[in-house]
Amino acid sequence: MKGIIMAGGSGTRLYPLTKAVSKQILPIYDKPMIYYPLSVLMLAGIREILLISTPRDVEVFKNLLGDGKHLGISIEYAIQNHPNGLAEAFIIGEKFIDHSPVALILGDNIFYGTDFGNKVQEAASLIKGGIIFGCFVKDPRAYGVVEVDEHDNAISIEEKPEEPKSSYAVPGLYFFDYQVVEIAKKVTPSTRGELEITSVIEQYIARRELKVELLGRGLAWLDTGTNESWLEACNFVEAVQKRQGLYIACIEEIAFRRGYISRQQLQDLAFPLMKTNYGKYLMEIANSKNSMPLLYSY
Ligand code: DAU
Repeated sequence: MKGIIMAGGSGTRLYPLTKAVSKQILPIYDKPMIYYPLSVLMLAGIREILLISTPRDVEVFKNLLGDGKHLGISIEYAIQNHPNGLAEAFIIGEKFIDHSPVALILGDNIFYGTDFGNKVQEAASLIKGGIIFGCFVKDPRAYGVVEVDEHDNAISIEEKPEEPKSSYAVPGLYFFDYQVVEIAKKVTPSTRGELEITSVIEQYIARRELKVELLGRGLAWLDTGTNESWLEACNFVEAVQKRQGLYIACIEEIAFRRGYISRQQLQDLAFPLMKTNYGKYLMEIANSKNSMPLLYSY
């Protein structure tokens, strides 16, 4: 399974914060926003990743993450010239995908919860069809909304409906088989002028090849689309990290715990950062003989 992070868009809802920098580079408490979706793909065991961003912003991500070798993964980059919609990821990424199954995650989606690592690892073993998630929210009107039957099969999906048919919002994490590229190519722009991810999902529903996994109360899915939700996400990460002493979306830690890099490599990454709490945390992990925290954090 390969992975794509969609980190483009215009970010206009957060102006002036995003007038000169990418939304997905803004900090969520102590690390750039992009670390959070990247950590999800890494937890899923996906090590070949394509990051798509705007012509203006792609260089910043290259400076931040490089080719991914230091994390034991491979990161490639591609440009989306205009925010034409999320389904365009599969068209831009066609060569990269190369007939393999692929996971798409949005660069501004944050997930945290017990057992989430196992859930995404399982989803990443998909070979045929598609898997999306459903999160119960108070007001789903700002999201894709999925209607499910009593066996958790999807009945319908709608993008930002005025009158939602269910309370299940679809978070920005999708797993599809190789068919997704051809499906995406056939999608036509919606009334808001975008190639909608929900149109791709509709096709999988029509083929009866879509699984919906409902995420329960133990899973926090955080949105960063407004100043309020961005601040709430920062506060959430701070509260969990301070209380548990375990970091959320620490990509170097995940690389080590998933066996992508050695203890020595983790120490080498920590060393130049020793003036920061982040660096000290990495060093602690590198020096610890106890793997228990992994169970608690992921
Ligand atoms: O967050 C989950 C929701 O994300 C889903 O429930 C919706 O079905 C899905 O359409 C999407 O809705 P949003 O309104 O949040 O999408 P937005 O346009 O804000 O884009 C989400 C992220 O993807 C954002 O970080 C920018 C990036 N993006 C967006 C578009 C349209 C791109 O990189 N390229 C694009 O063309």
